[in-house]
Amino acid sequence: MKGKVEAIIGAQWGDEGKGRVVDSLGDRVDVFARYQGGANAGHTVIVEGKKHVFHLLPSGMLYSGKTCVIGNGVVLDPEQLLNELSELQGKGEDRSRLVISGSAHVVMPYHKKLDQAQEASRDQGSKIGTTGRGIGPCYVDKYNRCGIRVEDLLDPEALREKLESNLDEKNLLFTKIYDEAPLSFDEIYRQALSWGKSLEPYVDDASLVINEALNNGQTVLLEGAQGTLLDVDHGTYPMVTSSSPTSAGGCVGLGVAPQYVEKVYGVVKAYLTRVGEGPFPSEDKGDTGQYLRDKGGEYGATTGRPRKCGWLDMVALRYAVRINGMTHITLTKLDVLTGLREVKVCVAYRSNGEDRTEFNGNIRYLNGVEPVYRSFQGWDEDISSVRDFDDLPDAARAYVRYIEEETGVPVSIIGVGPERDQMIVRDL
Ligand code: IMP
Repeated sequence: MKGKVEAIIGAQWGDEGKGRVVDSLGDRVDVFARYQGGANAGHTVIVEGKKHVFHLLPSGMLYSGKTCVIGNGVVLDPEQLLNELSELQGKGEDRSRLVISGSAHVVMPYHKKLDQAQEASRDQGSKIGTTGRGIGPCYVDKYNRCGIRVEDLLDPEALREKLESNLDEKNLLFTKIYDEAPLSFDEIYRQALSWGKSLEPYVDDASLVINEALNNGQTVLLEGAQGTLLDVDHGTYPMVTSSSPTSAGGCVGLGVAPQYVEKVYGVVKAYLTRVGEGPFPSEDKGDTGQYLRDKGGEYGATTGRPRKCGWLDMVALRYAVRINGMTHITLTKLDVLTGLREVKVCVAYRSNGEDRTEFNGNIRYLNGVEPVYRSFQGWDEDISSVRDFDDLPDAARAYVRYIEEETGVPVSIIGVGPERDQMIVRDL
């Protein structure tokens, strides 16, 4: 019997609550796998009142007896990973088997320094608002075919050679272009060797591990980081991250074939947020935006930055459904909308008197559009203990049904609070 792959991807600009959804589907899953991004992600999971934030570890680490994979498509910051691991081990909550692909690229100290120097040197209008975690520069080296991979950390000679040539070039950039101090080879080399020793027990052929699991009839969950609108190809380029958070990225980033992917759960926040720079047509810069930020706790899990908040954007959501082949929607944080008299949804972008309902990620276009809204009635009832769709207030049900009609995708999970069990599970 062949197993199956299910993907959980962000349908918006990240921060949709994916970690929480991954965690809640955990019982049905055998292998949890991260396939792109790095420590720029921040996945928050709350179990029994205890909050866990994972930047690199898959959110399934809290389940015992499961396998958690960090795939070749991830850019791995060893220091961050080892900190997260030792924190979990310290709490006695490291219950999974961890597998790290030897082909994953390593975020080196010079990547982080370069990320920060490049961002600082950009003019106000062209800043990306990166997390400063070295993600872009690490992917640049990967595609430039000079990057250092996890397997190189286990091979002192290969590491020395690659580090020397990389550092020579980066130090030239630091000293000649960014007016920064050069970094020391000896220090980084020593550090990298010790990372290799610590990571060695986990390094394996991640693609093989996953495909063996599939051959044994197991279920593999692809855990996307960031979101569709931050995808380097399909997002609001260049205000994007440097990887492919969309569902297809999961196949490339793990070495698993597309025909295994049976379900794609798009995680959609009931309103919309964005952190970092870039266009956001349905942003609410007024009191309602502030209300959503306060009530939804919309501050970055990685950087602590306040997120911009606004209304659900149906133009962008229909696009995310298309790009990802979404089969299910999981709608998070519906409870945050409780108490609003009116709930709005952006249904078109208006530009030069013309309304468009198909998404176009060109930022010059998006910066100039006016959102066209449809208005829904709000609700006051506390929905945090509702577990059955039929028990939701009429107005909340109408809102969910509208999302299903517009996207053609069933809303199969609805989040009504931060705890593991605070959700309405319909058809999985
Ligand atoms: P980078 O991924 O650090 O290069 O940042 C590029 C853009 O992606 C910036 O706008 C970041 O704020 C955004 N970004 C990166 N990771 C996340 C995330 O996990 N959630 C939300 N936004 C993110």
